[in-house]
Amino acid sequence: MIAIIDFGSQYTQLIARRIREAHVYCEVFPYWVKSEELEYTDGIILSGSPTSISKGKSNLPMVNKDIFDLGKPVLGLCYGMQQIAHLMGGGIHRGGSAEYGKTECQLDTDSAIFNDISKNLAVWMSHGDSVEKIPPGFEVIAQSKNCPVAAFQNAQKKIYGLQFHPEVSHTDMGSNIISNFLFSICRVEPSWRMSAFLDSQTAKIKEQVGDDHVIVGVSGGVDSVVTAVLLHKAIGSQLHSIFIDHGLLRQNEREEVANTLTNLGLKPVVVDAGDRFLSALDGITDPEEKRITIGRLFIEEFDSAVNDFPDSKWLAQGTLYPDVIESSGGVSGLADKIKSHHNVGGLPEKMNLKLIEPLKTLFKDEVRHLGRELGIPKNICDRQPFPGPGLAIRIIGEVTIERLDILRRVDWIVRDEIKPGQSDQYFAVLLPIASVGVKGDERAYHSVVAIRAATTNDFMTAEWTKLPHTLLDRIASRITGEVPEVGRVVYDITNKPPATIEWE
Ligand code: XMP
Repeated sequence: MIAIIDFGSQYTQLIARRIREAHVYCEVFPYWVKSEELEYTDGIILSGSPTSISKGKSNLPMVNKDIFDLGKPVLGLCYGMQQIAHLMGGGIHRGGSAEYGKTECQLDTDSAIFNDISKNLAVWMSHGDSVEKIPPGFEVIAQSKNCPVAAFQNAQKKIYGLQFHPEVSHTDMGSNIISNFLFSICRVEPSWRMSAFLDSQTAKIKEQVGDDHVIVGVSGGVDSVVTAVLLHKAIGSQLHSIFIDHGLLRQNEREEVANTLTNLGLKPVVVDAGDRFLSALDGITDPEEKRITIGRLFIEEFDSAVNDFPDSKWLAQGTLYPDVIESSGGVSGLADKIKSHHNVGGLPEKMNLKLIEPLKTLFKDEVRHLGRELGIPKNICDRQPFPGPGLAIRIIGEVTIERLDILRRVDWIVRDEIKPGQSDQYFAVLLPIASVGVKGDERAYHSVVAIRAATTNDFMTAEWTKLPHTLLDRIASRITGEVPEVGRVVYDITNKPPATIEWE
């Protein structure tokens, strides 16, 4: 296992991604981690940071110096490199030599970290300070025009520092540099596989839960379905899955999810709450009010369904690793950019259940992979994200049964036409306006729908997908032909930012 020590870098999660992609297990720790906790790791990576050592603040994030006495290989990136210099007797140049963006570096390819890497390499730099004086026992192994110490090493102690970011895709051969650290320097095996995770996690759940009963809420999204199926594999009938149908799902979604779970041996309790959600939403047009209403009702429904299983002691949730890393500003609480979470409300503390989160060390693509290992069909594993409040936030204005019905039919055509590889998220939005058209010989006012398709890696930023015009043309013809209530189709060509992916 590789430990990543987080100093609040925007790239900490990316470092973890790169290591997992190399089939090595890693975990992120806050910078104040005690060295005893790192004894079982095979190597340590120190992340970058939005903080600057040169600002000379008294409360700078500093790793415990004794981690260097563990004898583990250490790789410091950007601020992490400066930490090494600072703690081991080197010196930092305050500002002056700042570099941001792609920079040409000359590397000493005799160093194990640069084995088989080009001598002249384009790397991604993003720093104000830099190392001015290397610590005793270290040597310089890379330089750029503005940065005479772009990398250093103490090969004997296996301590390395890079001023640039190998985890960012703009650094050429960045993944190879990380692989050199993992395989040549830390000498780990690329053995992190979902099949192994499945076995170890199943055993862990059994041990943790014992004979207790567990409740899981299934929404139809990948995370909750995988959580439920994994738990079922581990503890069978001790698991009770509850699927609240809030009536705001897409066409056939309820049947699809319920059948999948049933086919996999789970017996989900399906709560048919559509009418109650619709009446609670009656007359509400404000987006925030819609979300709050749905969140509140969801908790009430779930709470009452849980009452049917009084012996349950655990509540399972499909929390993922990015949620853990990002919550309250990263594991160290230092991250500049804090992503807000979209989960449908929090589940009430009065439920008095212990929490079990078996996916909380996984990234989304790993969860999809695990789903396939568990035999969950592709149409569920490869699902695009769908917001907890469902179609309610894709119906601008009031949510009524008639408007839900229109949007469902339109959305089905959009999903039928666009293929998963073409866009990362795609759907229709029903607008609260009518627009004029001609049907037969008469002017007619009909609804307007917008098509939204986004291309993105992380859903935090996105570009509108440049779908082929022929495809857009076919979608518009089908919608106006097959859904007579709709008279006009528009395509959303806004990026995020400034727009969000959803319209509400
Ligand atoms: P935005 O609209 O913020 O969406 O650009 C980013 C991603 O999050 C999804 N999303 C939600 N997911 N509950 C959820 O579970 C929500 O309330 C919610 N709002 C947005 C959205 O579909 C996109 O994938």
